[in-house]
Amino acid sequence: MKAMEKKILEEGKVLPGGILKVGSFLNQQIDTAFLAEMAGEFARLYKDAGVNKVLTIESSGIAIAAAVALEMGVPMVFAKKHKSSNVDGAVYTAVVHSYTHGTDYTIVVSSDYLGEKDRVLLVDDFLANGKALIGLTELVRQAGGTVVGAAIAIEKGFQGGGDALRAEGVRVESLAIVDSMTDDAITFRA
Ligand code: G4P
Repeated sequence: MKAMEKKILEEGKVLPGGILKVGSFLNQQIDTAFLAEMAGEFARLYKDAGVNKVLTIESSGIAIAAAVALEMGVPMVFAKKHKSSNVDGAVYTAVVHSYTHGTDYTIVVSSDYLGEKDRVLLVDDFLANGKALIGLTELVRQAGGTVVGAAIAIEKGFQGGGDALRAEGVRVESLAIVDSMTDDAITFRA
C-alpha cells in the first residue's frame, strides 16, 4: 500500500534504537480517515479467506483491529497483557518476549471468545521480531481455531519476524515493509 509508505515518509520519525515513531496517525493520535483506508485494504486482501474473527493484543492493535473487523462484519477480540480481575473462568495464555522492552509478558484471552470454529485474522500495528504474532497464534491453537493470516500496518523487515512467519507458511500482509531506517532515510521493500 503506497499510501502507508507515503504517510511514514511524511509523518514518521526515526528514534534511536531502531524505533519508528508514528504517533501522529497510528500510535497515539489516530488519523481516522486513514484508518478506514487501511481497514478497507485488509478487508479486500482477506475477502475470500472466510475470516469470522479478528484478534489483536492491547493496546495499540485495538483501533486498527476494530476498524478491520467492522469492515469485514465480524467480531474483534483483544488479548489482555496480564490476567486481570475481569477475565475469569477458563482462559488461554501465552508468554511473549518483547525485544523492544526487553521483558516477557503473558497474554490472556477468555475461552468464551475464541473457539474451534474460529477462522482468525491476526491484526497488529507493528511486526518486528514477530513474538506477539506467535503468541496470538498460540492462543488460537489452544482454542482449536485456525489462523488464516496476519494483517500488519507496518512491518520492520530488518527484524525478520515477518519473513520467519512466511517461511512457516503463515500468510502475512503488511501495508509497508521498512527495510532500513536512518535519521534521514527510510527505505521500503519493493
Ligand atoms: P514483536 O512482537 O514483533 O516481537 O515486537 P516487540 O515485542 O519488539 O514489540 C514490542 C512493542 O513495541 C509492541 O507494542 C510493538 O507494537 C512496538 N514496536 C516495535 N517496534 C516499533 C517501532 O519501531 N515503532 C513503534 N511505534 N512501535 C514499535 P507494545 O509494547 O506491545 O505496546 P502497545 O501495543 O501497548 O502500544
